[in-house]
Amino acid sequence: MKYPKEYLDEIKTRLKVSTVVSKSVTLKKRGKEYVGLSPFKNEKTPSFTVNDEKEFYHCFATSEHGNIFDFVMKTQNFKFGEAVKHLAQLAGMQPYMFSKQDEEREKKWKEYLSIYTQYVDFYHEELLKNEVLSNARDYLKNRSLGKEEVKKFKIGYIEKNPNFFDKLTKEFSEQALVESGLFYLDEKKKIYLERFRGRLIFPINNISGQPIALGGRIIEKLDYLAKYINSPETSFFKKGSNLYNLDLARKLSNKLDHIYLVEGYMDVVGLSKNGIENAVANLGTSLTDKQILTLNQFFDDIIICFDGDESGYKAALRAAENSIKELRPEKQISFLFLPDKEDPDSYVNKNGKDNFVDFTKQRKLSIHQFIFSHYKKQTENNPSSMAIFEKKLREIANTIKDDLIKKYVLEYFLEKIAELTPHLNQNKKKFYVKKAKTLDSTKKHFNESKSLTGVELKEFSLLYLIMNNLALLQANIYLIENIKLFTEVNKQILELIIQKLKSGEQITVESLNLDKQLLDKINKFAPIKHILKNKTENDHEIMELLEDISRDLMNYDLEFRIQELESKFSRDMSETTFNELKELKKKQNIN
Ligand code: UTP
Ligand code: MN
Repeated sequence: MKYPKEYLDEIKTRLKVSTVVSKSVTLKKRGKEYVGLSPFKNEKTPSFTVNDEKEFYHCFATSEHGNIFDFVMKTQNFKFGEAVKHLAQLAGMQPYMFSKQDEEREKKWKEYLSIYTQYVDFYHEELLKNEVLSNARDYLKNRSLGKEEVKKFKIGYIEKNPNFFDKLTKEFSEQALVESGLFYLDEKKKIYLERFRGRLIFPINNISGQPIALGGRIIEKLDYLAKYINSPETSFFKKGSNLYNLDLARKLSNKLDHIYLVEGYMDVVGLSKNGIENAVANLGTSLTDKQILTLNQFFDDIIICFDGDESGYKAALRAAENSIKELRPEKQISFLFLPDKEDPDSYVNKNGKDNFVDFTKQRKLSIHQFIFSHYKKQTENNPSSMAIFEKKLREIANTIKDDLIKKYVLEYFLEKIAELTPHLNQNKKKFYVKKAKTLDSTKKHFNESKSLTGVELKEFSLLYLIMNNLALLQANIYLIENIKLFTEVNKQILELIIQKLKSGEQITVESLNLDKQLLDKINKFAPIKHILKNKTENDHEIMELLEDISRDLMNYDLEFRIQELESKFSRDMSETTFNELKELKKKQNIN
């Protein structure tokens, strides 16, 4: 759905950039502009400027710039739609309505949110103020939770015979109240009951910090009741899509690159109490791809820290096998196993923050280390068991979506298996030599390929694909005729190939007389060969791959031009340059 320009313009007119920015950055007036410390960088001297007249901000330290929407998107990690909603509200405008259906849903959502907000606020205040709730307070005291945590997480307590339902029926229909999941009808007594009665409640917020569900813990030990319950799924709450405390934790992503993913509400609260605020919990279900991707959007390293018991271990293994497929370059998923019978809450309360941080540094296992060591433990030293072991690891590596990561993880697994092979183990000396050698060669491969830029690698892929499909391209020369390359040698090769193909004579790679070293390099590093190897390629697939690569190369071209313009803009700060930049960025988003 696209917002009309008028609506966005009105927000911009109503809100000065300095008004929006000064909510999070202290600004000082200097001439026509404002200056302040950059929110994108830790700095002592201000390099962040705001120009209300030109309607943009610019950071000289990081070359970040943009308008109010860009600013809230970057500093608060909002998506565009969220930024519009947020700023419209700040500007005192109505949220934009898209269609009748949206309007209906929007109305329902407002009602839902209002029910939850009133509910959460009411029972939170009760817990803070109502002297009668001594059992809940004693419970908190026993778990050494103070006012600060209760307030930060808006924890509440619902007495055993609550009557808030009656209050809410004055404002909301019974249907809306039941659909919120907070109440249900007792068929026999024909009365509505509160699902969370007798429980401490932990509000689960959406990414903007609005309550959309609850987790509730009983405080008296009653064996016939579950220790924790969650809100059922509703139109506005889906378990696998949400994470407890993500709304607060994501705000730390400007400063921290890692996030702890724990099992329980109390783990998040306990860690926070001990000064570790970058923690979220999945809501008593197994981890989903979506949750991993969401966390990776904000943090580079996800540290999964489940309880130190068997069920915690099993949950971690499931999480590992499920999330390894989403592993990407620059992103990490690690695992931390606590001593038996401990969970993050109990561990950090006993040992404190510093110990917990040290423990993490020393003990965390990367996802591939964990998976390897798990399956190794189940393997015996005989060919059949080893074969199952290798097969399983190959299968797991094959689920990884990113090709380079897949290759690297598979290589890691195979290396480690080679170390276990009995005839190598008989001769320790030989074994170590072998290990050092292969690791070196892997390293070398990565160092060499690292020294190649992304563009060069893309170009290699293109040339590799062309050279292995010369006949196909002779018939479809239009596919490669207009591709723009950046590296001089590669450009020359492409021109040469096109020329020869156009001449109509049958050509082979040998007849091109290419520099042998370059040819070797292409064959060795072209990332596409890892994709091709596993597929039976037909012409149609090859042509699609070619189109993908040329689109990527076009994006590189755009990116270079954007970089040029960005540095020009930081010099001239002109609106024309800014607009040109915006155009290019738009194009980049379309491609
Ligand atoms: P735990 O049983 O490990 O509890 O459940 P905990 O987090 O240590 O809580 P305390 O310290 O005893 O208060 C971990 C998570 O599993 C889900 C909840 O989300 C809980 O936070 N769970 C647990 C349930 O959904 N239902 C249950 O009956 C138990
Ligand atoms: Mn616990």
